[in-house]
Amino acid sequence: MDRVLGGGFVRGSTVLVGGDPGVGKSTLMLQAADRAARAGRTVLYLSGEESAAQVAMRGRRVGANAPGLLVGSGTNLAEFGADIEARNPDLVVIDSIQTVAHPDVPSVPGSLTQVRECAARLTGAAKAAGHALVLIGHVTKEGSVAGPRTLEHLVDAVLYLEGDRLQDYRLLRGVKNRFGSTGEIGIFEMSGSGLQDVANPSRYFLSRTTHVLPGVVVTPALVGTRTLLVDVQALTTRSGYGTPARRANGVDATRLAVLLAVLEKRAGLQLSGEDVFVATAGGAKLEDPSCDLAVALAVASAFLDRPFPHDAAVVGEIGLGGEIRPCGPVEARVEEAERLGFKRVLVPAPGIRASRAIEVVSCGSVDDAITWLEPQRTQRKTAKGA
Ligand SMILES: Nc1ncnc2c1ncn2[C@@H]1O[C@H](COP(=O)(O)OP(=O)(O)OP(=O)(O)O)[C@@H](O)[C@H]1O
Ligand SMILES: [Mg+2]
Repeated sequence: MDRVLGGGFVRGSTVLVGGDPGVGKSTLMLQAADRAARAGRTVLYLSGEESAAQVAMRGRRVGANAPGLLVGSGTNLAEFGADIEARNPDLVVIDSIQTVAHPDVPSVPGSLTQVRECAARLTGAAKAAGHALVLIGHVTKEGSVAGPRTLEHLVDAVLYLEGDRLQDYRLLRGVKNRFGSTGEIGIFEMSGSGLQDVANPSRYFLSRTTHVLPGVVVTPALVGTRTLLVDVQALTTRSGYGTPARRANGVDATRLAVLLAVLEKRAGLQLSGEDVFVATAGGAKLEDPSCDLAVALAVASAFLDRPFPHDAAVVGEIGLGGEIRPCGPVEARVEEAERLGFKRVLVPAPGIRASRAIEVVSCGSVDDAITWLEPQRTQRKTAKGA
């Protein structure tokens, strides 16, 4: 969470933590509040959703029991205000902004007027008293309920906790941050004892298939300041309609269109009649241009029905001429690939120090890189046909 916030909570500032119902917002904030309290701060966790006993029960389950962590329950903002003034905390958590209401505001809790007014009063108080404030909100990215737009300009940072409720992983992303970048992500795993830091986040973005499939290529991508290995997957099928479908998930759609044109023109792959689908495993968002080579090779691999070597990773930006361009910190990427047991890595420029266990191969063009696709499958097919 510190990483996503760009260092931690800032006094006088307000952070909005949004996310779907049940994703784990209360759990995350109770654990974060506990950590702050353990570091010697006074933290006031005010819940309008649950009774103090319910919060305490969760606290016991996740081991949040620091003496400086004070829990209150209620929905009256006037009472909360008095509590905050009396306790003079370093950090205040309001769970959630939709459940509190100020008696002076003639509008029901959760209404736009009430949410906006309560948030304005709380942020004002935080600025005046110099404590950090966290507002938990039932807000989805689409802004369905009292949308983030209402609150976004009022707060200094907006974080979203995302995840599939059926899976155990949760991603924390920043969409606005006055004190740091928004590129960083936090990766957690939900367990009976709360959210745990994922020790090896690269594993999360690699699909867990054990057999080698065509259309899957791994790239060490920059996500925030971290290098994480991400699986890029592609599928191509003969298009049944006039205009072929192109869908990109986790990869920029315009970038995909350019790469398809390059593959067609510079590597001779007839993709114009193909529906092309590209996705990243685990919902990683690749904004780093050095993922070009992985996207192009995944598409080529799917189209040619030839798998890419499972022990190799690739990194490189692709130019319009099909040339592979140098890109940002290659050494760190090579190291991450090595750390996760890859044996070979395809990089743009020669001169990368070939380290201990991993073979570093430089590659000049996308056409060159395609020769890396394993021929077995076609050979097997031909053999069978023969
Ligand atoms: N005993 C348990 N063991 C494992 N996971 C649990 C347990 N109890 C709750 N959880 C997890 O915690 C999640 C609920 O977390 P939490 O209440 O923090 O979410 P929330 O975002 O605050 O929800 P709401 O929108 O209802 O306030 C559940 O979806 C579940 O994944
Ligand atoms: Mg909750």
